[in-house]
Amino acid sequence: MEEQDWTRVVAAATRAPSIHNTQPWRFVATADRLDVFLDRNRALPVLDPTGRQQVISCGSAIEFAVVALGASGAAADVDLLPDDADPDHLARIAVTALRSPGDEERTLAEAIERRHTVRAAFQPQAVPTELVDRLQDQARRFDTWVKPITRSEEEVATVFLISRAEEMEQGDPAYLKELESWLRTDPTAPDGVPVGAVPSEDPHSRPSNWLIRDFVVGQREQQEFLAPGDADAPPPDVERPTVLLLGTEDDDRRAWLQSGRALGRVLLHATAAGLAASPLTQALDWPATRTRMRSRLSLVGHPQMLLRMGYPPEPTGTVSGRRPVGEVLSFAPVG
Ligand SMILES: Cc1cc2nc3c(=O)[nH]c(=O)nc-3n(C[C@H](O)[C@H](O)[C@H](O)COP(=O)(O)O)c2cc1C
Repeated sequence: MEEQDWTRVVAAATRAPSIHNTQPWRFVATADRLDVFLDRNRALPVLDPTGRQQVISCGSAIEFAVVALGASGAAADVDLLPDDADPDHLARIAVTALRSPGDEERTLAEAIERRHTVRAAFQPQAVPTELVDRLQDQARRFDTWVKPITRSEEEVATVFLISRAEEMEQGDPAYLKELESWLRTDPTAPDGVPVGAVPSEDPHSRPSNWLIRDFVVGQREQQEFLAPGDADAPPPDVERPTVLLLGTEDDDRRAWLQSGRALGRVLLHATAAGLAASPLTQALDWPATRTRMRSRLSLVGHPQMLLRMGYPPEPTGTVSGRRPVGEVLSFAPVG
């Protein structure tokens, strides 16, 4: 692989979603492999002290790289955590063969450019169950289960835990300070969440049971938070997104990486099918609400990602920026 090939692959990898658009990754390329590292300089010590959500973000970037390689005709093997002495060395992606790309690889690679987080209310059209089945199959390849939140008791419990977590976050000055440092008023900013990518209305006033993360710091009136029973009787025009919980049996770096890879594949398959998604991870930010989610939903394993999914409205909002590839990719000296 030439330097310009790796530049294209890494440009695709960096289109992956990342918590607060922190893009916590670094890549080192040689002729036939790409090493992926967690960049601790971009950590979120308040929201993500263990780095779980940043490692998930890197897992998605790894899979976006594999998809981009596949579409350019390169088959690749992924070795997770290849260096016992360096836990931040997250993956080694080795090119194993050159061959003609298949239709699916091309379709998924095209979806990389089109995908972005859509927080605006989705259209009423339901997500077909066959598609959800396909997304479950995709995730299973990475030892990750996908549980659609469909039963009303599960929905009520999940909505309640998200609201509870959001309330805790809005009352935590350290969380708000960290969030504010990743909010961007400049729509061309290379990282962070641009204000144009988050709906301007108060998340509590949206016609939806599902409370999206409030990115606006310090400008809202005091709000009433949703009571757990509120989800029982939604008004008829309420948004009814499909909500998918992704989880893993273990809860270590490898499991985080695998769930991130599953997330990447799920998002690309969903995008290719005309869908959009937005993560709703407030309840998973905090050990207390994350643990309660395990018990209230009787989960076997650990919840890693909650996704709201549906058919997007037009327009979908500002597309968030990325740092130039030159900032995140270096080339190892030959020999
Ligand atoms: C692990 C993880 C957690 C996330 N949590 C949230 C969330 O709670 N609320 C939200 O609106 N977006 C969330 N996001 C989406 C990011 O904000 C988004 O990926 C980032 O701003 C880049 O934008 P893009 O996905 O449109 O490229 C999350 C993304 C990841 C990978």
